[in-house]
Amino acid sequence: MVKSSICYIAYMHVTLRQLEVFAAVARNESFTKAAEVLHLSQPGVSMQIKQLENNIGLPLFEHVGKKIYLTSAGREMYSYSQAISNLLGEAEDVLEELKGVHSGKLAISVATTASHFATRLLADFSKRYEGVTISLDITNRKSLQQQLENNEPDLVIMGQPPEGVDVESVAFMENPLVIIAPTNHALSKEANIPLRHFEDEHFVVRESGSGTRGAIQRFFDDHEVSFRTGIEMSSNEAIKQAVEAGLGLGIVSIHTIELELETGRLCILDVRDFPIVRHWHIVFRKGKRLSPVAQTFKQFVLDEAAQFIRLPRVV
Ligand code: PGA
Repeated sequence: MVKSSICYIAYMHVTLRQLEVFAAVARNESFTKAAEVLHLSQPGVSMQIKQLENNIGLPLFEHVGKKIYLTSAGREMYSYSQAISNLLGEAEDVLEELKGVHSGKLAISVATTASHFATRLLADFSKRYEGVTISLDITNRKSLQQQLENNEPDLVIMGQPPEGVDVESVAFMENPLVIIAPTNHALSKEANIPLRHFEDEHFVVRESGSGTRGAIQRFFDDHEVSFRTGIEMSSNEAIKQAVEAGLGLGIVSIHTIELELETGRLCILDVRDFPIVRHWHIVFRKGKRLSPVAQTFKQFVLDEAAQFIRLPRVV
């Protein structure tokens, strides 16, 4: 968006504010909607457009019935206003780069399962770069995919990068999925349990739309073993509690059970072909111009995540 300013383009006396108002009207095809978006009155918007038209000497909109349309001058002006807006955005990025990474904003979205380590990573990052304002959204794979489609977050931490969205991704750490049971479970002392043994078992599972759930289903399908789902839960914490309470077995990322293993509340069953080996990826829209802060955070994750996050030993 063109930033409001009293800067003048001398030869046409067009101001950036006029361009901003004009672009809003053109985008919304309405003076009223543009006024809402810009928090201006409708006469205020009309006045800016009138002044712009006077400055350039041509009408920019035509009214047909209740609708407004861009004139050919309006269409030309719109494409120039977009180019000016993009250049200003670039200038802003370059200036931010000169300021370094000691200020700025970082919008990160992470998969529910990754939140167990992402919060620690972010805490460490924000201690190093105290001036950076971080916003963190924790949600499941399906919703992360939607956010990437809309190019909303700077960076996303998730399992498998999404298909059907043009993204760049780098794998940075293993994400083993394991079968968990209460410590006193009959199978807890068994070794190399065949996968078929679980065919009649009902697992406590994540909601559909979860990356973990999708990966488990694919794994059982690939091994031609049926996978029966019991209660569905949208949080790993709830799954762990349900398993501990004896509601069924669970399959979760090892990143989520560090504490339960340490305190002996849950155990990992030694199952043939397990763990399901997955990886965490840092993902962003292809062609996205990452801010200096986002670039620094990406590098921080690639350099430090594996050392920073202790993985419990997988059987
Ligand atoms: P989720 O995330 O199961 O919490 O959706 C893991 C993943 O993205 O694979």
